[in-house]
Amino acid sequence: MTQQAHLSDAFPLANGVAIPCLGYGTWRMQDGAETVAAIQTALSLGYRHIDTAAYYRNEASVGQALRASGLPREAVFLTSKVWNTDRGYAPTKAAFQATLDRLGTDYLDLYLIHWPAAANQFDDWEAINRDTWRAMTELYQAGKIRAIGVSNFRPHHLKALLETEVAPMVNQIEFHPGCQQRETLAFCRDHGILVEAWSPLGRGRVLDHPTLTAIAQNHGKTPAQICLRWCLEQGVLPLPKSVTPARMAENRDLFTFALTPGDMAQIAALPPFGGSGHDPDQLDF
Ligand code: A2P
Repeated sequence: MTQQAHLSDAFPLANGVAIPCLGYGTWRMQDGAETVAAIQTALSLGYRHIDTAAYYRNEASVGQALRASGLPREAVFLTSKVWNTDRGYAPTKAAFQATLDRLGTDYLDLYLIHWPAAANQFDDWEAINRDTWRAMTELYQAGKIRAIGVSNFRPHHLKALLETEVAPMVNQIEFHPGCQQRETLAFCRDHGILVEAWSPLGRGRVLDHPTLTAIAQNHGKTPAQICLRWCLEQGVLPLPKSVTPARMAENRDLFTFALTPGDMAQIAALPPFGGSGHDPDQLDF
């Protein structure tokens, strides 16, 4: 069972940095007043961890919402990611500065490699990832980033980075009851890498599965809350996205119930369903 008992409780990263145990995902939220308002609502509901990326093209709105909230910068854990077209040493450094400028901040809490360079696109994919990582490591050592990590890495992608000076502290992957990624989760656990779940609700597509609706009914909770609690029970940090205030409130209400071993076993037995279909070894973007 998860040790986190409140929205503001944290998971410890390998370097000791505390990361709030529930994040607010912002994928597909476009720059503009609507996104600023949604993030402000999330902050007013107690979310203290915002996940964005250069690719989402909404970093300016994230920064605007943070400033408008009146919260001190250090009260909110801020993550962004370097996009695929900026891989490599010098491009990563430039992309990082552009991200800071758009966010209007002078440091990040967490910076991730968004997708691994992989063998289907690059003969020298390991060297490319190591060059990107070297830039991130230097920014981390210079105090510009509190923690560094990766996203969508499988064990074979991670292995190449584990031989470097600083190991990734986080791996953010697609993770929900229809996409359980057991091998990656086990590898990350063995190497002290915190797993974060993107699309922990399967973009809403897994929520009407009869196993999840039945478990939800037993607990007097919603299938979304079951999916998010299922992450926490496994030590995985969920990053649900919602622009709907009632759902944002629902998604943070995870600390007054626990899944039983029987619930966990039923979910573990589910076949894959509702996944995005994105395979990091077959990327065409
Ligand atoms: P919306 O943003 O319109 O509220 P994921 O985090 O897995 O990517 O899922 C995001 C999708 O799930 C969005 O379409 C979001 O809709 C929807 N969603 C978020 N929270 C809930 C919830 N508690 N119940 C049902 N759908 C939800």
